Amino acid sequence: MRSHHRAIALALAACSAAVAAAWFGLHFRGRPTVVLGPMVQNVRPDGFTIVWYMHPAAPSELRVKAEGKQEATYCPASVAPRPAAGITVQRCQAEVGGLEPGRRYDYEILEVVNDSDRRVMFRGRARAAPPPEETVRVLAFGDSGTGGRHQRRLARLMETYDPDVVVHTGDLIYPRGRPEDFPARLFIPYAELLAGVPFYPCLGNHEYKLDPTETALSTFALPKNGPPDEPPGRHYWFDFGPARFVAIDSNHDGPLFAGRVAPWLDGVLAGAGDRWKIVFFHEPIHTHGKYPPADKLQWSILPVMERHGVAMILCGHNHMYERSHPLLAGRRGPAGEGITHVTTGAGGANLASARLPMPETMAAWDDRQHSFTIIDLTPEALAVRQVGISGRVLDWFELARPPERRDAGPPGGSPATAPAQASG
Ligand SMILES: [Fe+2]
Repeated sequence: MRSHHRAIALALAACSAAVAAAWFGLHFRGRPTVVLGPMVQNVRPDGFTIVWYMHPAAPSELRVKAEGKQEATYCPASVAPRPAAGITVQRCQAEVGGLEPGRRYDYEILEVVNDSDRRVMFRGRARAAPPPEETVRVLAFGDSGTGGRHQRRLARLMETYDPDVVVHTGDLIYPRGRPEDFPARLFIPYAELLAGVPFYPCLGNHEYKLDPTETALSTFALPKNGPPDEPPGRHYWFDFGPARFVAIDSNHDGPLFAGRVAPWLDGVLAGAGDRWKIVFFHEPIHTHGKYPPADKLQWSILPVMERHGVAMILCGHNHMYERSHPLLAGRRGPAGEGITHVTTGAGGANLASARLPMPETMAAWDDRQHSFTIIDLTPEALAVRQVGISGRVLDWFELARPPERRDAGPPGGSPATAPAQASG
């Protein structure tokens, strides 16, 4: 059995390297070239971050311009070499500031040929984070990173929905999150999305086969606003249009969530004001799939999320789609209250079946085809569609903002405590 697994892993690795080699062959013309990315990251009301990967290494710049505005040039704030499918690429990251909220900006990545000469390597367009009153479209999915045909076909369908922001619920790169697999399993399938739309991942269990600080976390440029004493990028939050999004790294044990993550999450959600609150992480709390619910998250951080009126939790891990009714403490909440738990783990990898019959807390599910989630957000309503690889909408629902905010808990909240059986 082990040799069988090894043969599959070797075949996948060879396939991944061949796809990446073909891609580099197509894009590399002997001169410095942007071979991976660019990638829009960490959008703020007044700026964004652009990350790009070059080969061969050369000095480069980012030029940003909006209609009727003075253009500005940014040198990469950090430049570092990195392996990618047999070659070394140069990772460049530039922080852009002084922008207007929600406005779109053309950008160019330039090779610095000499003091007076610049050569355009890439042209793109990105947007500063929109203000709370603007309508935005969110794309969410997880468990995608095989580099296979389902992932690629789904990626083409995602582009037609023209999202404003992408959240990924983990398992970006199968099987082990290796840097050399990032081209074929992330950068190439999502090249068009990454160049124009901010991409916010959380870490799945496959990102932990290797040290994620050396792999996924050094690939992206994520907000550094997580709990104190936790490595940056594992847990973070950002505001985008009428929502506050919180990413949590679910690859830890309950006491860490109770001791470090819950107090931080309490403050982040309390500070969200009137925004919708959407939390995403890999392992689902309410699920009826192959893997059981994550009890460690249920007792440690779910009470914090329920107390603050989180509207929706987005997860993956189980390779299927499922959606709960709005739930409070494991039961259907009164009208307009409770958290809708969504597992959107059919993002490209092999599908896994739901465990039937579904409990009455579940409102919908589909384990028959690959799919992704589209969320249209306005300040007043949250409309969700689950889109299948066939193009068919598999599920649809809407949440309306209740008349009163649901932040009913005491300021600071009560600390989460472990049940007796989970304390060891
Ligand atoms: Fe997965």
